[in-house]
Amino acid sequence: MLAKFLAAFLTLVYRIRQEAFNVWCFLCLYSLGAVYMIVEFNRKWELFWRVVHLDVHKDLPSNLNGFVCVLTGGSRGIGLHVTKTLLEKGCHVIVASSVKTGEAIERVKKRILSKVDQNNGKLEVWHLDLSSMDSSKLAQIMFTYSLHELVKASKQSEYLTVNCLHPGVAQTELYEHVWWVNWFPTLPKHLFRSAEEGAETVLYTALSEKMESIGGKYLEDCEIKHSSAYSYNDSKRTLLWRKTIEMLSPWLPESTYVPLFTDTQHFTNE
Ligand SMILES: NC(=O)c1ccc[n+]([C@@H]2O[C@H](COP(=O)([O-])OP(=O)(O)OC[C@H]3O[C@@H](n4cnc5c(N)ncnc54)[C@H](OP(=O)(O)O)[C@@H]3O)[C@@H](O)[C@H]2O)c1
Repeated sequence: MLAKFLAAFLTLVYRIRQEAFNVWCFLCLYSLGAVYMIVEFNRKWELFWRVVHLDVHKDLPSNLNGFVCVLTGGSRGIGLHVTKTLLEKGCHVIVASSVKTGEAIERVKKRILSKVDQNNGKLEVWHLDLSSMDSSKLAQIMFTYSLHELVKASKQSEYLTVNCLHPGVAQTELYEHVWWVNWFPTLPKHLFRSAEEGAETVLYTALSEKMESIGGKYLEDCEIKHSSAYSYNDSKRTLLWRKTIEMLSPWLPESTYVPLFTDTQHFTNE
């Protein structure tokens, strides 16, 4: 009898804790959303602080002939506008898409090219399924910092830079399953930036002269910013790095399967 009572009590406590955690996550998510609504509002009206906008002609090289760019997510939304700009500037763009069949790939290609004003480059669409990489933004930021340390340690940072960025809240298909967007479909047009504006920081980070040889940074609105304090946590980053290398080890050549960060060798991010 006592055991049954105890089990029921513990289940109840567990459920309450679980629900409390869910409510906490919900509150955090919507608070973050509210913060970014202020950011987007300010971007439109510049009432509180100055916002840097990308000038595609001034900030980016005019000719990208000879450049090859592999772009995940380049078929829709923000990525589509990155693809468009790169093709117009003469880049050879390889868009990695989840579509599989030749027919679907041709459709994606056609859709992309229909948005390009003047294609001076070359477009290829390759199949690559990244479905297991969702819900991973913090990990991607932390991994970027660690990868930058690896590049720096191997003295390659002059030729290879790794950075990460937040594109802002942009109106794309990403939000088509969000309940309030479904209820008020015209609201995002007023609250969010366009997908084209979402592409600005991506293009700036990859191509601006000002970002040459700069790696291991996080950007928002074409400016280097600080990411969350957690993302700089050395021990968590080391753990993430080790776990990632461990998971990738079947595909990595042995020479790269060297744990970069030992317990005594921590890296810093100024
Ligand atoms: N929009 C925003 O406000 C916002 C804010 C912060 C961060 N982001 C991030 O920015 C990125 C682009 O967002 P978006 O708003 O442009 O999204 P979107 O319009 O929904 O486009 C998603 C892109 O990802 C590709 N994709 C989807 N599933 C895939 C899979 N399993 N494997 C490979 N590719 C896949 C799609 O290409 P296919 O359909 O051809 O596979 C498409 O090009 C995402 O990582 C998103 O989390 C967006």
